[in-house]
Amino acid sequence: MAHSLIIFASGRGSNAQAIIDYFKGNGKATVSLIVSNKPDAGVLDIARAEGIPSLVVDRAQFNDVALVAKLREHKPSLIVLAGFLWKIPEHLVQAFPDSMVNIHPALLPRYGGKGMYGHHVHNAVVAAGETESGITVHYVNEVYDSGNIILQARCKVVPGDNADALAARIHRLEHYYFPRAIEFLLDNIN
Ligand code: GAR
Repeated sequence: MAHSLIIFASGRGSNAQAIIDYFKGNGKATVSLIVSNKPDAGVLDIARAEGIPSLVVDRAQFNDVALVAKLREHKPSLIVLAGFLWKIPEHLVQAFPDSMVNIHPALLPRYGGKGMYGHHVHNAVVAAGETESGITVHYVNEVYDSGNIILQARCKVVPGDNADALAARIHRLEHYYFPRAIEFLLDNIN
C-alpha cells in the first residue's frame, strides 16, 4: 500500500509540488494532508489543484495537543516540513518519533537557527562571501535545525550571485533530492 505523507508548509510550495509529482510518478506515497500556518500561502492553491485536503492553523491550534489526533487520522509514514517556518512543539516531535523531516536551504550546522529561513539564509551566505552552499535534509527534534542529518547536497555560489540567483539554484537541488531522500526513508520503514 502507498505510504501516507503529511506536508507542513508556509510558502509558495514548490517543494510540496515536487514531492507530490515525484510520488505520483512512482505510486509509493500519496500526500494525504497539507498543513499551513498562512491562509494565503501558495501551497494551499497547490492543495486545491491537487485535490489534497488542507488545514490552516493559527498558533494556538498548532500548539494544541488536539492536533496530534487530527494528524494521526491520516496515518502518516512521515511528516515532511517543506518550507514550514514555525518551531515544532515538543509534544508533536515526541508524538512522531523519527518520523518528521525538514529541509533547510543551507549546509547545516551553518546558517541555521531561528530567523534563518528562505532569503535570510541566502542573503547571509552571499554576504559572507561563501563559495558554496547547499541543502540539508534532517530529522526534526526539539531544537531548530539541529536534528540528525539525513542528506546534504552542495552547489557553488558564483561571483555575482545575489540571494535570488542562489535561491533558484538551491530550489533545483531541493526539488531533485528532497523527494528522493523521502523515498529512501519510506523504502526503509519496516
Ligand atoms: C525552501 O527553500 C526551504 O528550504 C526553505 O523555504 C523554502 C520554501 O520554498 N525552508 C527554510 O528556510 C526552513 N528554515 P517552497 O515554498 O517553494 O518549497
